[in-house]
Amino acid sequence: MNILVLNGSPKPKSDTMRLTRSFLEGMTRQASCSVTIVDVIHKDIRPCRGCFACWKNGDGRCVQQDDQNEILAAYQKADLIIWSFPLYCYSMPSHLKAVLDRTIPLIQLRMKETDGRVQHEPLIDFSEKRTIVICGSGFPDWDGNFEGLRLQCKNSFGQAEMVFVPETPLMNVPEAEPLAQPLLTRFFLAGQEYAKSLSLSPETIHELQIPMMPKEDYIRAVNASAPHA
Ligand SMILES: Cc1cc2nc3c(=O)[nH]c(=O)nc-3n(C[C@H](O)[C@H](O)[C@H](O)COP(=O)(O)O)c2cc1C
Repeated sequence: MNILVLNGSPKPKSDTMRLTRSFLEGMTRQASCSVTIVDVIHKDIRPCRGCFACWKNGDGRCVQQDDQNEILAAYQKADLIIWSFPLYCYSMPSHLKAVLDRTIPLIQLRMKETDGRVQHEPLIDFSEKRTIVICGSGFPDWDGNFEGLRLQCKNSFGQAEMVFVPETPLMNVPEAEPLAQPLLTRFFLAGQEYAKSLSLSPETIHELQIPMMPKEDYIRAVNASAPHA
């Protein structure tokens, strides 16, 4: 299986990528996989110009001369695309959103309506491609933090597996390692499950999203570490 990981964290030690790497370790332990990780922050990806030249040309490429065509080529080859990123203002970081915007060369102007949903027709065959979203976030679990992102991913990726993890800054706090390790193990096992069944059960997704510590304790710990506390 060809796996493309789009890492949207701008940080060298991404909280989210620590989880994603455990997931990948589980997958590669279980099945033969080739993994390409793209650190989007180091790529030259300019914003979409909205010119629709890609739709006129119909060649699956963007007319801008930057690194996006390399990503589009990898996207077309991938069987599984993992979007791994931190939640920024209830959505994905802007540099990764630019990558998503600029996947429009892979669809066409023509539209169709299926089950009340209107979509552009694909230019390439997406039917065998799978998507996983792994998103870390700084807040503890609260209703609404991920709701905008959930809808965006559903509309953008269709049948994606979405894993939204609260309290991920704990992944890089040495004192919190006893809390991080069990979660890393669950991601490893989830990777194995995905490699076996090409899906994650609702129970597994639920387990990956369980906060590492109770909300009140997390808020207290964050506030105690805040500058000018
Ligand atoms: C600009 C910015 C916006 C953020 N917005 C949110 C947010 O809306 N909700 C949230 O829970 N965390 C938010 N965070 C916190 C990050 O999601 C969190 O620190 C995450 O663990 C970083 O993951 P990374 O190390 O993989 O980049 C934000 C952080 C930054 C820098």
